[in-house]
Amino acid sequence: MSAKLKAAVVGWPVAHSRSPALHGYWLKTYGIDGSYERVPVKPEDLETFLRGLAASGYAGVNLTVPHKEAALKLVDEISPEGQRIGAVNTIFVEKGRLKATNTDGYGFITSLKAGAPKFNPAAGPAVVLGAGGAARAICIALQDAGVPDIVLINRTADRAGALAKALGGKITVASWNDRTTALKAANLLVNTTTLGMTGQDPLDIDLKHLPPEATVNDIVYVPLETPLLAAARARGNTVVDGLGMLLYQAQPGFEGWFGKRPEVTPELRKAVLAAG
Ligand code: ATR
Repeated sequence: MSAKLKAAVVGWPVAHSRSPALHGYWLKTYGIDGSYERVPVKPEDLETFLRGLAASGYAGVNLTVPHKEAALKLVDEISPEGQRIGAVNTIFVEKGRLKATNTDGYGFITSLKAGAPKFNPAAGPAVVLGAGGAARAICIALQDAGVPDIVLINRTADRAGALAKALGGKITVASWNDRTTALKAANLLVNTTTLGMTGQDPLDIDLKHLPPEATVNDIVYVPLETPLLAAARARGNTVVDGLGMLLYQAQPGFEGWFGKRPEVTPELRKAVLAAG
């Protein structure tokens, strides 16, 4: 009899993670005898926890705040994606070794393609709001997809400048005060900030200059239809919500740990939303 396959999301705090609902739905749907737990681990305990993963019988884990960067020093192997993003969110235990990767960029671009099938990355610049970890993964994914120019806009301009420099390629930094006019030539607008999330400040941006054929993607998914997406939809722009990124970024982990490529379906979306 083979041992039950085991994975988890590891964070501090980790109580609000939707990953257990997401992987739990897939385990049940595919009839896999596995588990996906929620494990709170303090930053000072991460090293001990990761070193014990193989002995504890884990096939692997997801990492969330605040462990994604710290884990880089604690694993045996980092994928090219993890190295470029400078953070990892998925670990596979293979023959006792810890192999880490970052699936956020994959999740973002796969969700964008699924939600906006007509979106053509090469058709024009992307305006990206925010310069945190999510923005970094998303800019890399956009560059890889063939976006010709990224206009990076962040409240703290220095952070946008530093990110542009670190990424290289064609990235223009525009000031937060110019966010409305910067939309003039946009083929894509992505919000990677926390603005518009329930409990946070609203995202104050006027879409009047945004071309009607542009796609708008918000990575916030609580609420699912943010005021940004509602405004974009009302003007006829194609909109992509943030839930898809969460669901697609989980695919590679599930496949590696449990041996089945899981599907993102309307039923999965419903189950994960209901778990919130
Ligand atoms: P993550 O790693 O998830 O992307 P983060 O590094 O905390 O999270 O980044 C959050 C982003 O939201 C940042 O771009 C942040 O802007 P600053 O770099 O200026 O902090 C942005 N953000 C958060 N609150 C904001 C606010 N009230 N106004 C404008 N931008 C805000």
